[in-house]
Amino acid sequence: MLTLVNSDQRFDKLTFNFLSTLNIIDHIRNTRDITRDELEQILETEDKASIEYLRSSAREVATAAYGNKIFMRGLIELSSHCKNDCLYCGLRRSNSAAVRYRLSDEQIYDCCEQGYKLGFRTFVMQGGEDGWFDDKRMCRIVSTVRQRYPDCAITLSLGERSRESYQALFDAGANRYLLRHETASPEHYARLHSAEMSFQNRIDCLYALKEIGYQVGCGFMVGSPYQTIDTLYADLQFIRTFQPQMVGIGPFISATGTPFQDQPNGKVGTTLRLLAIIRLLHPPVLLPATTALGTLHPQGRELGIQFGANVVMPNLSPRDHRKDYAIYDNKICTGEEAAECRACTEGRIRKIGYETVVDRGDFNPNLEY
Ligand code: 5AD
Ligand code: FES
Repeated sequence: MLTLVNSDQRFDKLTFNFLSTLNIIDHIRNTRDITRDELEQILETEDKASIEYLRSSAREVATAAYGNKIFMRGLIELSSHCKNDCLYCGLRRSNSAAVRYRLSDEQIYDCCEQGYKLGFRTFVMQGGEDGWFDDKRMCRIVSTVRQRYPDCAITLSLGERSRESYQALFDAGANRYLLRHETASPEHYARLHSAEMSFQNRIDCLYALKEIGYQVGCGFMVGSPYQTIDTLYADLQFIRTFQPQMVGIGPFISATGTPFQDQPNGKVGTTLRLLAIIRLLHPPVLLPATTALGTLHPQGRELGIQFGANVVMPNLSPRDHRKDYAIYDNKICTGEEAAECRACTEGRIRKIGYETVVDRGDFNPNLEY
C-alpha cells in the first residue's frame, strides 16, 4: 500500500514537472523571454518528452522563418598566430606546441575562387588576433575579394580591433563580423581570459561593430570552466538586449597545452537545449550548427539543425594548414578538401530532410514567423 502511494506521488510529481516544462517552453516562445528558474528547469529536466517538445518548438520557429533552408558559409582560417592568451584556446600565445601559419594574399584568393566555384556566396575569414593582418593588409584583401565577388557576403572574425579598424574594413567591403562575447558575466570573463583582456572592451567592440553597420554575431561556449546557470542566464539576457543577427555557440572542448586541458568537455545535450532556447528567444537569428558540436558527436551538426540551427560552415582552408588551426583537440574536417567538406555537409543535411542553400542568406528581421 505504502509503495503504491509513493509511486502515485512520484507519478504526480513527474506529471507536474512535465506539464510545467511544456508551459515554460510555450511561455518562452510566446514572450521571447526566459527567467533564471525556467532556464534551470529546462537545462536540468531528464524528461524525454519535454526535450522533444523543446526541439520541435524550436524547429517549428526556425522553419516558419527560413523554411527547410540551411545556409552554407565557406570558412577560411587565415592565421593560427594570436597575441592573446585565452585560457581555453589551443592557439593562445603561450602554447609553444601550437603550429603557427599565415595564409598569403594569394592563398586566400585561391580559397575564395575555389569556394565560389563550389557555389559559396559567403566567405568567413577567421583568424587569431594577429598583427600581421594589420588594416593595410586586411583592407587590401577585403577590397580585392569584394571587387572579384560583388555578389558575395564577406564575414570577418578577427577578434578585437579598434573602431577605426572595423570602420576601414567595413568601408573596404566587409558586411558581417563574428565576435563571441564568450560570457556575459564580467567575473566569469576574467576567469577565462588573461588579465590584459577586458569584458568591457569586448562589449564595446560588439556595439561599435553594430553601429558601423555590420551584421554582428556574438556567442559563447557551452560548458566552459566556471560557467553556471547564472552566467548562462546572463548570456541569454545579453542576446535579448543586443539583438545580434548571428549567435555562435558550441561546446567547450579541452585543448592540450592550455590551462584548461584537463577540464571536462561541454555537453552536447546542453548545447542543443541552448540552441533551441536561443531560437525561441530570437526567432530570426542566424544560428550555426558548429564544428565543435560535430566534433563531440558524430551527428552533432545534424542534431543542431533539428534543435533550431540554420547555418553550417564547411571549411575552405587549404588542407595543408587545417590541422594547425587547432583551437581545441580532435577537431573534425581537418583531412578533407574543400569540395569534400562541402559535399559531405550537403549530404548530411539532405539526409535529414533539409536543403542547403549557398546564397548570401542575409539576416532578415522582417521575416514572418
Ligand atoms: N573549445 C570550444 N570552443 C573554443 N573556442 C576557443 N577555444 C575553444 C575550445 N577549447 C571558441 C571561442 C572563440 C571561437 C573562435 O572558438 O568561443 O570565440
Ligand atoms: Fe567536413 Fe564532413 S563537413 S568532412
